[in-house]
This record gives sequence, C-alpha cells and structure tokens, in this order.
Amino acid sequence: MRTTRTQVAIVGAGPAGLLLSHLLHRAGIESVVVDIRTYEQIAGTIRAGILEAGSVRLLVDSGVSDRVVTEGHRHDGVVLRFDGENHRIDFQELIGESVWLYPQTEVFLDLARRRAVDGGDVRYGVADTAVDITGERPTVTCTEPDGGRVRIEADLLVGADGSRSMCRHAFPPGARGEWFREYPFAWFGFLTEAPPSHDELVYTRSEFGFALISQRTPTMQRMYFQCAPDERPQDWDDDRIWTEMRRRVNGNGFALREGPISAKMVLPFRSFVTAPLRHDRLLLAGDAAHTVPPTGAKGLNLALADVAVLAEVIGDFYGTGDADVLDRYTERAVRRVWRAQHFSYWATTMLHAVGGASPFDIERQRGELSLIAESRYGAAYFAESYTGWQQ
Ligand code: PHB
Repeated sequence: MRTTRTQVAIVGAGPAGLLLSHLLHRAGIESVVVDIRTYEQIAGTIRAGILEAGSVRLLVDSGVSDRVVTEGHRHDGVVLRFDGENHRIDFQELIGESVWLYPQTEVFLDLARRRAVDGGDVRYGVADTAVDITGERPTVTCTEPDGGRVRIEADLLVGADGSRSMCRHAFPPGARGEWFREYPFAWFGFLTEAPPSHDELVYTRSEFGFALISQRTPTMQRMYFQCAPDERPQDWDDDRIWTEMRRRVNGNGFALREGPISAKMVLPFRSFVTAPLRHDRLLLAGDAAHTVPPTGAKGLNLALADVAVLAEVIGDFYGTGDADVLDRYTERAVRRVWRAQHFSYWATTMLHAVGGASPFDIERQRGELSLIAESRYGAAYFAESYTGWQQ
C-alpha cells in the first residue's frame, strides 16, 4: 500500500471536484482528486449545456479557460412557447444579464486541461474506493489503474462524487437531514444532426406535454420531451420521436428542423437536498449534496457555486486554523441551493402536463405562463432566476 499525504482529498473529478482542486491550487492549497470513471468516460457523458453569467465569470476570472466566451454562445434570452405562440424573455433588456450555451463536457475538458498544465494530481479510473472519517485524519483508499493500492491521508475530505455519492453515505446516521421530491415524469433527451430550429432555447408547454429545443453546434442539436419515468430509449425510433416532437412544438409557422437522431436517453426527475454539508472533516459539493430537475438548467451552475464558496471557506480554515469556519460553507451554500430548488420545481410545474390535472389546474397554469411571459415583472423574475442570482 502506497501512502500519499495531501491537504484536501477530493472524491469525484467532474466539474465540481476539478474546479475545487483548481481554486485551491490558486490559493496555495494542495489536493488529490480521484474518480472511479476514466477520463474518457467523464468526457463522454452528455449533460446539460447552460452556464449562468456568474459561472462564466468564475471560469474565466479564475483562469480555467476563456473558451466558454470564445467558443460558447451567449444567449440574451429564451423563448417560452405556449398555446402555439413564442414569447421571448429578453434577459439583457430586463436585467442586463445573459447565459452561455456551453456543454458541461467542454467545462470538464477545460478544467482537466488546466489541472494537467498546472501539475494537478488527478487520478482517473481508480477502483475499490473507500473513505474513512473515523480516524484522526480522513482517508481515501483505492486501487489505481496499474493495480497498486493507495491510501490518501488528508486534512479535509470533499465528496464531489455525484448523486449516488459514497461520501454522503459516510456521514454517521442522524448527522444530516434529507429533503426529497419525485415527479411523475421524466425527460427523453436526444441529439439530432440538423441545423438549429431556433437561435435560442425554446421551452414549450403543450397539451401533449413539455418539449425543449436546445442547441449544440451549427449541425448538431439537443432536444428533450416530457415522457413517462419508465420509458425505454430503444422503444423510440426516429419517426416516433419526431411525430411526438411535432405535435408538441410545430404550428403557426414554427416547424422543427429534423434530422437523424442519436444519444437517446431518459433523464430521471428528482429534487433532493441534504444538509448540513459538513460533518467533522468531510464536506459535500455539487450533485452529492443536491439534485434538481433539469428544467432550470441549474445542476452544473449550483455545483460551481458550491465550490466557489467551499474554496473560500477552506482558505479561511487554513488561514485561521479554526475548523469551526467550515460550518460557514453550509450556511452560505444552502441559501442558493434552495433558491435553485424552488426555481427548478416551479419552472417544471409551470411547463409540464400532469396526468389527472383538472380543467381548473390547466387554466391556472396558462394564467401563470401568461404572467411570466407578458408581465414585465413576471418576466424579470424568470430572467433573474434563470441567469443566476447575484447575491
Ligand atoms: C441542454 O442544452 O442540454 C439543456 C438546456 C437547458 C436545460 C436543460 C438542458 O434546461
């Protein structure tokens, strides 16, 4: 067994784990990152594609990369489509902000490259990972791809290991609460080789359910439609998918640009929060601590926001030598988490068709949509939440 000593051991080399390692490096704090997934597996994971203004500033200002602004696409608004009409929410005009379309995979590639250039210790493709927080120092043990066993001893352990987090389960029983909500639907996501159907995202409510038009490149687009949670991608051929998309979206002069379909997947819909985010020397960040339904595009943004706060608090911990400052992480991060939970839940219920909705429910939902689309203050509320709260 090889033993490595570091200041902060990080489980999970997704955007949360790598950004934390990067920000700590800039503060002169050492870390080791491990992930059971290989580099190729993480790079090949298709996730959402919208970055809040603050996420973009964080990536650029901390020196990760400026590719997000040179190669990403700035979107100054989104479209809410209902009753066959497009209603544009103009973020710039309402609140002077924008979001960037820049897929999570690219964020991972930028962070991985930055860490490699800076000599960061990131170990992909490890196996048999276990964490232990019962001793004097937290430890991570794992098997490296070459078969060697490693024991990483650290001052602090950060679980950035995703929604099925192993680190979350290392909290002793009763040391944290859980808040949870399930939805009676899911999203069916796919890529299509076609020109963009629109130059901004189109969030559509129809009597047949929700649909979302997003983009990737001039020749590749990402789209989603509401489906049953137990739907199986292999049961949907291209014809069936386009028939479903057309009846939800097309009409009044608006028509989808169709093409061959790939990367079909069903995304589960869940809202989940755990708190506190710290127990002793163990801290949680990103999906390990919370899950949001994808409607508000908040998952990645929340993870980056967690990490910005966590890096600061860990800096204070080393600056003061006082472990109590670590509790400030929960206080500061959870406020944003619940705002994002509310927004994701609210946007979801406003745009999705729920089986068994009464005629009253349906008319009320249309009233709500018209307030968001047609009242300046309703639209500004949506715009501020979507682009990310500045405080
Ligand atoms: C995406 O482009 O994958 C995407 C965009 C917005 C969302 C969810 C997913 O709300």
